[in-house]
Parts: sequence; structure tokens; C-alpha cells
Amino acid sequence: MSATIQVRTQSRAYDVVIEPGAIDRLGEHVRAVAPHRQSLLVVDQSISGSHGATAAASLRRAAYDASAMSLEAAESSKVIDTVSRVHEAALRHGLERRSPFVALGGGIVGDVVGFAAATWLRGVPLVQCPTTLLAMVDASVGGKTGVNVAHPSGELRKNLVGAFWQPHRVVIDPLVLRTLPQREFVCGLAEAVKHALIAEPALLDEMERSIAAIERRDPQTLTNLIAANVRIKAAIVAADEREERDVRARLNLGHTFAHAFESQTALGLKHGEAVAIGLIAAMHVAQSIELISRTDLTRVAGLLAALGLPVSLPAPAEIARLMSAMRHDKKVQDGRIRLVLPGPIGQAHVRDDASPDAVEAALRAVGAA
Ligand code: GLY
Repeated sequence: MSATIQVRTQSRAYDVVIEPGAIDRLGEHVRAVAPHRQSLLVVDQSISGSHGATAAASLRRAAYDASAMSLEAAESSKVIDTVSRVHEAALRHGLERRSPFVALGGGIVGDVVGFAAATWLRGVPLVQCPTTLLAMVDASVGGKTGVNVAHPSGELRKNLVGAFWQPHRVVIDPLVLRTLPQREFVCGLAEAVKHALIAEPALLDEMERSIAAIERRDPQTLTNLIAANVRIKAAIVAADEREERDVRARLNLGHTFAHAFESQTALGLKHGEAVAIGLIAAMHVAQSIELISRTDLTRVAGLLAALGLPVSLPAPAEIARLMSAMRHDKKVQDGRIRLVLPGPIGQAHVRDDASPDAVEAALRAVGAA
């Protein structure tokens, strides 16, 4: 029931190990890639007493002098001050250049700890141990790390500060998904649908066939689903590690919309929920220029809804504010909104020719006013 997938990038090659019970063996995994006396375990505070305790015990069994700290996993905590707290802990505990940082949590913890590892002593070993489905299928693999920056208007501008820092290993324990809150769980499914749309139509078929097994969190189904997603991500990251060509940028399908939705904090959307609505908005734009059919759009909306994800905004956010946030997204070049658009299913392309009218119509179609 386990799988190991190698990610080969120019800066590092590393294994993503998917293995039920892996958190209990976390210490062995860390020692295999970063043998040292000390380590710093940084845990999402909501799981510090459960999976955090298991991970810390495992690190101690593997002969680490295992220092630990916890973080609040909220977008508002994904800021430079939190990175400084990790650095201060590293300083307090005397971590050295070969001492690994271990991130145990979802995408927010992984991004913050990844950036802390990239910048502490100009870069130290990092092991990502994702505990949410979203981080397992996407965020923990590929080395994107970073934090948000608050605009004076109060809007959070996502991931504006960061670094590419590939982990030395990713350790995924699908059994932790048994206790993941439902809302968090379905967020990961949005990124899985994204991967299917950009790279693998067969994954879309497979998800449609497995809705019931996914819903009951069948361990084998989830292991297969995670492995399929990691393979897609590994291939894309190997081809374009630093998003210098338009290969990796395809992973941003739905994300320019999603970041705009997330910037409207009153909407209260989680990242995966915003991505689900963003995928639909991107499909509306794609349909308007005949890259995909209405049937494709209906099919994907049906799958997202069946998985428990939103396909329209929970409240009618203002189009002008959303357009302004999209223009400020870091994917804007020379003032043109660069959008990843799907079409046909299994392919996606970066385009900068979507008209503002088509983008506004897509925002209206997902409930903006
Ligand atoms: N989550 C998008 C990327 O890793 O490039």
C-alpha cells in the first residue's frame, strides 16, 4: 500500500514516500537524509498533542535532540513575523547548518517552515511531513516556500515573499487523513481536480469513479490518489523547477482567480475552496474562447460539487475589487493578467489574451456582482 516517487530537479533529487504509519517512522526518514545531532520540528498547533507528539517521539528514537515548536495554521499567520519566530527558535536551540527543519502540518506550516529553512544559515535540510490532503497532493512537493504580505488596505497579498527550496524528503502518512476536518479534506480534492485538468484526463475519470471511496476516506484509494498527484507534480517540477517556462505555471490553473477570492477575507474561503471556484471561473473564460465545451464545464462543476466543494462564491463579492486583486497578482506581466486556461481536458496553457470583459463575465458566472 506504500509508494515512493522520486522528484528530480536541478537543485536536488529527493523521494516522496507515501506510507501508512509513516509519522511513527519520521525519525528514520529524517535521519536517512539529514543525519545530525539536532533537529527542529515545527508543528501545526492543532495537531501538536496528537501527530506532533508521535513525530517528536519518533525523532527522539532516531537519536535527535528534537526541539519542537508550534504555529497557528492561519493565512494571517503566514507572514514574515512567523518565519522570524522559527528562526528565533533555531537560534535558541543552537541549530547548525546540518540540522534539519521538519514541517508537520498543512500548506501554511510547510510554506513558512520551508522559507525558514531556505533562509536560516542560507539554507538547511528540510523534511516536509504534510498532514492535510492539499499539502500531500500539491504544496509539500516542488519546493515553493513563502509568506503573504498585508497591503495597507487590509488585503493579504498571497505568497509575495518566498524562495524555491526543495525538501530533502517528503514523508506522507495517509492515515492522518482519517482525522482531518471535512472542510480541510475536500480542499485537497480541488488541487487533485486541477492536476487532472492540466495533465491527466484519466485521473478525472478515476476520481469520478471513486467518489464514494474518497468520501469514506478509503486508505488504498487515498494512497493511489496521492501517488497519482505526486507523479504529475514531480514531472512538472522536474521540467520547470523555478517556473521559468510556462510548464510549471500551468499548476496555477484557477489560482489567479482563487487568490483574488481569498484576498476578500470576508468571503471566509479556504484555499482549496477558492481554487475550486477559480477552476470554474477559468473554465468559463476558456469556454468563452472555445478552448473547452460547455459539457466539460458542467462535468467538472458536477465532480467538484459531488466532492463537497463550492462552485460559486458564498456571497456576491464586488467585481471591481476582484479585478483589482487579480491585476495585483504576481502573475501579472506588463499590466496584462496572465491566466492559465484549460483546454482540452488534460491540457492547460498560459495566456495573456483573455479580455477584461471575458474575465468579468467569468467572475459574474461564479456569483460576483
Ligand atoms: N502549487 C503550485 C506549484 O507548486 O507550482
